Formats: sequence, structure tokens, C-alpha cells
Amino acid sequence: MNFRSDNEAPINATILKAIVDANKGFEESYGYDQYSEAFTEQCQQLFQSWCEVLPLTTGTAANSIAMTLATPPYGSILCHKHSHMNEDECGAPEFFTAGAKLIPMPGEHGKIDLNYLDQYLAGTGVHGEHESLPSVISITQCTEAGTLYTLKELNQLKNIKKKYNLFLHMDGARFANALVALDCSAAEMTWQTGVDLLSFGATKNGAMMAEALIVFNPNLINQIKRLRKRSGHLISKMRFISAQLQAYLDNDLWLELAHHANLMASIFKQQTINHIEFLHPVEANEVFCRLPLKLIEHLQELGFKFHLWPGHKDVIRLVFSHATQSNDVNQLINVINNYKNK
Ligand SMILES: Cc1ncc(COP(=O)(O)O)c(C=O)c1O
Repeated sequence: MNFRSDNEAPINATILKAIVDANKGFEESYGYDQYSEAFTEQCQQLFQSWCEVLPLTTGTAANSIAMTLATPPYGSILCHKHSHMNEDECGAPEFFTAGAKLIPMPGEHGKIDLNYLDQYLAGTGVHGEHESLPSVISITQCTEAGTLYTLKELNQLKNIKKKYNLFLHMDGARFANALVALDCSAAEMTWQTGVDLLSFGATKNGAMMAEALIVFNPNLINQIKRLRKRSGHLISKMRFISAQLQAYLDNDLWLELAHHANLMASIFKQQTINHIEFLHPVEANEVFCRLPLKLIEHLQELGFKFHLWPGHKDVIRLVFSHATQSNDVNQLINVINNYKNK
């Protein structure tokens, strides 16, 4: 009954088998293997576009290498104040970019307030070389609050990035969950709405440790492979990462897994009717809710696992994953709905 994190979920069996199947004989190293080449082709088909693809093992590496490409050391990165990059990467983007400045943006439900962003950018430039140069907007899709930027909002972001001549990065650690929820094409949710760089996550949705940095803007790939190497993220036996990513995309497995995770979250949202206050709209696979303290303790005693959300005693985060069992969800719903306040 684990609702702590999709990182705690097991590896999907098809993906695990793909690793074993790739373990046959010798294969070129450092990304020149058949699996990595095939995965790049798969991405180009999926996104209906040319793109440069770097298989990686962590989302932090994908985000940080993306930032190295999108900003000089004297640049700034505009991201939500609660973004993973701002709160959970221990300064990796600043480190990788040799000092670019993260500018945390406010916004309801994990999404950057676009009016604020526009106004903020309109006010930059007055201090000349004394201030960092706005270079890239980074958004998370799904956001850290489990919400989504709609296609309309993504198009607004595209206008802002064009107006101020910036790049747009999408942290897609939960890209599949977002795509399934928005029910649009991968192209529509990325380069067609101005996304230049995408951190494409697979680990949370069934892979063992497989992410990719996907770059749609050909002007951004100068020395990209050296930057990856210099950062220590050029994987020698890359075939085992790419084989996972290939299996992930094959036969729409990734969409099936994300659909299950989102469905579990939406059943929970719809059927839990007592004692609960939802803090954000439930749009994908993460739920943030307030419950009576005694009920939280009761759930813990019964063996339900979840994170208590920092800063609030009575707020918990529930993450539904590709491996969440509907029985566990039903039990959770029943305990909450039938709880009697003592
Ligand atoms: C929104 C988001 N971005 C990126 C990451 C990547 O993290 P890691 O470096 O642990 O793979 C995570 C993981 O929790 C995340 O939630």
C-alpha cells in the first residue's frame, strides 16, 4: 500500500525483459549501439520532427545538461519556486552552468503565473551588465503539484519566450502522465508550442533508470556530446538504458502505464468524499490533500505509506503509479470515507 512515490514502484516486466534481451554478446559502447540509434529514430517519429536525443540515467542530469545548453553562466533561468530544479537538485543547474542564476517564479498549483512572468521580464534589462541575462524559461509538465499546463497556456508561454527571445525547457519527469491527461500529440505538447529542450522521463513510469534529454532546436546542440561527457553522464554501456527506452515506447507501453497511474488517481479523487480537502486539481497521478491528523495517523498504523508534505502537519502527498493496485486504492478510499472522528 505504497503511495509514497512513483520512484518506489518496481520496474515494468516488459522493460526489465528488454534489458535481459539486450544482454547478448558485444555491442558498441558510448551510444553507438543499435538500441540507442533505434531510440533516436523512434523519438523522431514520435515527435514528428528532427531531434537530438541523449539517453541519460537521471532527471537531474537531463535538466542540468539542458540548462548548460540554454544559458551562459551569466544568464538566468526562470522556473517555478517549487520546481524540482529550484528545490530538489542541490544546486546542480547552477553548478553545471557555471553559475547561471535561478529566478523562482510564483504561481498557483505549481504553474508559473504567466502574467507575473511577462511583467517580470518586461522589467529586466534596466541594470545592464549588473543583472543576469534572462535566457531560459523552465516549466515542469506535470508540475510538482500534479497539475498541467494546458495547450493554451503552453502557447502563451511560447509567445512570452518569443517576445523576450528566450529558450523554453520542459522538465518532463512525468511527461507520459501529462500527455495521456491532455490527450494531445507529443509534438503538440513540445516543439509545436515552443519547447526547445525536453527532459523526457521514463524511470517514474516503469523504467529502471532511463531518462533522455531531447533537443528540438538545432541551434542548441553545439558540443552537446562533449558537455554530456564532461558532466560524467556519457554512459559506456548505453545499450542497457536505450533498450529500456525503446521498450518503453514500443507498442505504446509508456502511454498504457501512465494511463493506469492517472486512472488510479482520478478514482481516488472522485470516490473519496469524507474528511478530505484537495489542495490542487487532480490532473495526473499525484494528489495533495488535507486530512484530520488523527486520520493520517490511523492510515499510517494500517500500513498505508505516503509523504507528509513539508510545512503542513495535516497535508499528505499520494502518488499513484503504473504499479498501483486498484485494491489498495479501494482500501484507502474506504478507510478515509468510513473514518469516524473520535
Ligand atoms: C519534476 C521532477 N523533475 C526531475 C526529477 C528527476 O530526479 P532524479 O534526478 O532523481 O532522476 C524528479 C524526481 O523526483 C521530478 O519529480
